[in-house]
Amino acid sequence: MTTFVIATHNRNKVKEFGRILAPLNIEGKTMPLGEVEETGTTFAENAFLKADAACRQTGMPAVADDSGLMVEALNGAPGVYSARYAGENATDADRIKKLLSNLKDVPEEKRAAKFVCAICCVFPDGKRIEAQGECHGTIAFAPRGNGGFGYDPVFLLDGKTFGELDPREKDRVSHRGRALALFAEKLHKEKENDHADK
Ligand code: IMP
Repeated sequence: MTTFVIATHNRNKVKEFGRILAPLNIEGKTMPLGEVEETGTTFAENAFLKADAACRQTGMPAVADDSGLMVEALNGAPGVYSARYAGENATDADRIKKLLSNLKDVPEEKRAAKFVCAICCVFPDGKRIEAQGECHGTIAFAPRGNGGFGYDPVFLLDGKTFGELDPREKDRVSHRGRALALFAEKLHKEKENDHADK
């Protein structure tokens, strides 16, 4: 079992990380971590900033994700600003309300969107493993379902919103599920190479 610090304050993400990584023989630990300013202009840059800060703070390998929703009709917004889309102290419901209001005149066939998740893992020796996952869907006209978090109730895939999916069903197709699976694959390859070098 390999152990990593999970560099996030988002409890929903911690749950998803744990669920997805455990079967891959990777254990995620949470620790009290300082806030990191997400000053990057890409998901990958922000994921690195968070993982690097957590690794420096704990001296342990740390893994972070930066993720968000990109809507075609809004030229990729809210993108890296997904968490801050409706201001600093807004709720998921506020963000969904703003999104639906900005899309109110956009017809069904033009409501394409994707979730993106960039994973970055930083080791104390400075080594990095990066992986990215995407999930393509559309934005519903009204929220549906109580599952998941964030924009899940308005993200439609094959007739169901992510809010209506069972957690494991979401993991199988989600941006985070895909990115973490790719991360695990890269990590295991890296370990095999390390053993081969010794
Ligand atoms: P950050 O990665 O912590 O900067 O925040 C990403 C934001 O994007 C979250 O607060 C959510 O609003 C949104 N987001 C990221 N992943 C998901 C997801 O799996 N479902 C719904 N919303 C998500």
